[in-house]
Amino acid sequence: MMKTKAVVFDAYGTLFDVNSAAEKCKDKIGNKWESFANFWRATQLEYTWLRSLMKRHKNFLGITEDSLDKSMKVFNINKNMKNELLSLYKILSPYPEVKSVLKDLKKKNFKLAILSNGTPDLLNELVESNNLNNLFDDLFSVEEVKIYKPDKRVYELPVKKYKIRSEEITFLSANTWDVSGGGNFGYNSIWVNRYNSVFDILDFKPDNEISNLTQLLDIV
Ligand code: LAC
Repeated sequence: MMKTKAVVFDAYGTLFDVNSAAEKCKDKIGNKWESFANFWRATQLEYTWLRSLMKRHKNFLGITEDSLDKSMKVFNINKNMKNELLSLYKILSPYPEVKSVLKDLKKKNFKLAILSNGTPDLLNELVESNNLNNLFDDLFSVEEVKIYKPDKRVYELPVKKYKIRSEEITFLSANTWDVSGGGNFGYNSIWVNRYNSVFDILDFKPDNEISNLTQLLDIV
């Protein structure tokens, strides 16, 4: 393994809990909140891939709203919840270990970045609302290339900015398809398997698997 110079994180699902918006409304949504949240997330991702294939880019806020509209219809959720859910999605909660791990990595002088489907505005608001803004060198957004992960133009962004080789980037994602995309591109890719899930069958195996970010400190 080459020496890591930059540690790059996926945002949604990896640093920030995508289900936390619906969870904060579970009293109003009821027992179905988790199935609804999973459906919303799956639809949102499907729309990123479909739009990339159709070459009809729409930014991640627009896609998040479109997928929310569909999910609310499917789960029969009152329309007046929409603004609350969308606002909460902009300030998703980070997983508990995120801040302390980022601080420890910063002390080791790695470049630290997010590489995400999110728009620059969404990513800024996520890190600022969680007081994480001073910890990152860069928040790379697909809006620079207007196509979604796993297109290789997205994974190229930090390589170009830092002028380093793809293998010198350790990339972490909880999304199996994103680990495959980053690994296929050439990153040292680590799967954050928080929920004891099954990996994809896409002719790629992650270089490492961890169950939360604290284990990363033993790897890089
Ligand atoms: C992101 C999605 C894939 O942050 O979670 O890019």
